[in-house]
Amino acid sequence: MNDSKKVIPLLEVRNVSKYFGSVIALRDISMQVNGGEVTCVLGDNGAGKSTLIKILSGVHPHDDGELLVEGHSVHFGGPRDARAAGISVVFQDLATVPLMSIWRNFFLGSEPTLGIGPARRLDIGFAKKVMREEMGKMGIDVRDPNQPVGTLSGGERQAVAIARAVYFGAKVLILDEPTSALGVRQSGIVLKYVVQARERGLGVIFITHNPHHAFPVGDRFVLLNRGRLMGSFAKSETTLAELTQMMAGGEELERLSKELEKMATEPELEQVARELAQEAGGKPG
Ligand SMILES: Nc1ncnc2c1ncn2[C@@H]1O[C@H](COP(=O)(O)OP(=O)(O)O)[C@@H](O)[C@H]1O
Ligand SMILES: [Mg+2]
Repeated sequence: MNDSKKVIPLLEVRNVSKYFGSVIALRDISMQVNGGEVTCVLGDNGAGKSTLIKILSGVHPHDDGELLVEGHSVHFGGPRDARAAGISVVFQDLATVPLMSIWRNFFLGSEPTLGIGPARRLDIGFAKKVMREEMGKMGIDVRDPNQPVGTLSGGERQAVAIARAVYFGAKVLILDEPTSALGVRQSGIVLKYVVQARERGLGVIFITHNPHHAFPVGDRFVLLNRGRLMGSFAKSETTLAELTQMMAGGEELERLSKELEKMATEPELEQVARELAQEAGGKPG
């Protein structure tokens, strides 16, 4: 396929770290996101997936390392900066208003208007037309634009959020665990939209803890474990079985290291207890 060394990535993370006080949420993470590819970020709870997205979308500043958009180093002052750079996130809760119509949700916060001054009003006809066209590009025929978003299926709501991000100029589309709350059929529908976004040339970042959802649609796989990069693979370099095994192995290692930590700290705790007891003037029991 393409020679990734010559292509400037849409988005690049270089040796990024993030600390919350003494908690190391991310340590020395590097990854590249190319247009027309799906980059899957895999990891268990607490791996640092959400923290990574928040850095990419301007919610948190990174502490170390570098963030590059189309080869240029950037520092986002907030989500607005990230959006202006073409980075859009579809969050788990989808940020849609269930009782509002599909077209209102599509344009929420960026409503098209007609006229000026006191005569300014919503351009409802335009909004409905664009929404239907954009949903049509995702293979969804919206018959009634006034239908409340809450009456759509989970997969279709994801589609509204994705179509909206694309229409408003996203080059990098980040999907935060879009399939985790869905059943098999609805997950399949969302995975179809992930592929469609890739085919339209977007760089898609697909966050999931399910290798079975990641493998069929992913071009690259980035594995996080407790804030660290456990591995980074092109599809040709790995298999579903390997990814599954690495995710499971990660859990095992985590359990093991917790056990070791406990064993390591017990004598220390005893020592501390002894010192405290001596300080208090008593004798260790
Ligand atoms: N705002 C925060 N303050 C303190 N610690 C945080 C904060 N956000 C995340 N963390 C910690 O960073 C680590 C990674 O969390 P997160 O990015 O949410 O992981 P994931 O999304 O993979 O489950 C966890 O140990 C979590 O407790
Ligand atoms: Mg998370």
